Amino acid sequence: MTLWHGRFGATPSSELLLYTQSLSFDKKLAIDDLAGSKAHVKGLLRSGIISEEEAEILLATLEKVQAELDSGTFIFENSDEDIHTAIERRVTELAGDTGAKLHTGRSRNDQVATDLRLFTKREMGNVASRILDFQRLLLGLAESAEDVYLPGYTHLQKAQPILLSHYFLSHGWALSRDFDRIIETISRLDVSPLGAGALGGSSLPLDPDFVAAELGFSKRFENSLDAVSDRDFVAESLFDLALLGVHLSRIGEELVLWSSEEFGYLRLDDAYSTGSSMLPQKKNPDIAELARGKAGRVIGSLTGFLATLKGLPLSYNRDLQEDKEPLFDALNQVSLGISALSGMLSSAGFDFSRMRKAADSQFLCAIDLAEWLVSKGVPFRSAHAIIGGLVRDSIERHVDLGELVEAHPQLGAEAAELLLPGVSVQRRRSLGGSGIEAVKLQLSSFHSLLSRDSLRLQSLGLF
Ligand code: ARG
Repeated sequence: MTLWHGRFGATPSSELLLYTQSLSFDKKLAIDDLAGSKAHVKGLLRSGIISEEEAEILLATLEKVQAELDSGTFIFENSDEDIHTAIERRVTELAGDTGAKLHTGRSRNDQVATDLRLFTKREMGNVASRILDFQRLLLGLAESAEDVYLPGYTHLQKAQPILLSHYFLSHGWALSRDFDRIIETISRLDVSPLGAGALGGSSLPLDPDFVAAELGFSKRFENSLDAVSDRDFVAESLFDLALLGVHLSRIGEELVLWSSEEFGYLRLDDAYSTGSSMLPQKKNPDIAELARGKAGRVIGSLTGFLATLKGLPLSYNRDLQEDKEPLFDALNQVSLGISALSGMLSSAGFDFSRMRKAADSQFLCAIDLAEWLVSKGVPFRSAHAIIGGLVRDSIERHVDLGELVEAHPQLGAEAAELLLPGVSVQRRRSLGGSGIEAVKLQLSSFHSLLSRDSLRLQSLGLF
């Protein structure tokens, strides 16, 4: 029996059921649907729409349904179009006429919006908490890297020696913006749509403020049309996840490069790499590659869903059912990605001496030479030209840059010392840069940021 059997002379066709059902993927919302229904029952009681006894029966029946769902004894029927229909059908089977009062003053339109907001709030909170864990891992790696340096790249060409700790923290800061965005998305989505009805509210004296508070939302909707049709929170969450996925993909790309024989900066742990079905010697960084590859899929979920929303008239349209699969998939893929990359990074062996050796090229200190000249009063543009000329000379005539520097009238032995291994990162001093002292300061600000962010997450009261 459908929810609308009174109006219809025929039962739904199998094609309709197959095409329109969402039960196969919205079962995930069961826990939130039950929470929404319990709050709704309490609201109906408070407004005097149902009696105390009816409320007790309904609440007890919802508990029973929850137990059936938890234990796997809940039997779904072919006609259960979605999780909301299934739960209401079962409540009515168990509680008869009282059960049939559950949906009073409510539509699946405000119901599904409520469920999905509850779900998204919790699950985005989980992602934020995984981000923090990942950032803690990066902080730990940065601390243990001490004064290890490696080449920093621009255009994937060696540019300047940088500290490995600075490198790890750079990804940590990018993730802190993902964390911020998620916290802000959660605060914007924290609005209850329950009580909006199908689209225009109800003639019954519902109390949307009461149910909003019951469900832990910070406020209720202001406009019922907007309440049932607003999926900004899904689009925003998808964007947050897509950009987070992009950040993970960039880490992934570097791990792919670094684990190659050509770079050789890290060795992957056997448990976090794969072999080849044909080539016996291979060890492949599949997790890192999938972090790169799956970002494309999450971006697809975002753009696909924006296309679904585009041009929809008010208020609820069935198109909106297409909000769930992209969101569920993006949450799942990004969460799995964070865990897998964390494992890969924490188990990898970093080859510090290989990194240092790769950075111990005199050419990477060219800027230090130019800046040394600047400190002696030479205008930067002239200093750049002098050092650029020496680099060219060194390459073309196959002469050691150090010798040229020593012999140069404006440079000499003192300047040549800048070319010694490790001197560049020792001398670098600007704030936020990759010098030993600046990175120490950065480590401590990152440490405080994580403590602050973990309090921010706790204060949302999600867990
Ligand atoms: N399964 C639907 C969804 O996910 C629930 C709402 C259906 N509402 C309706 N009036 N057909 O959006």
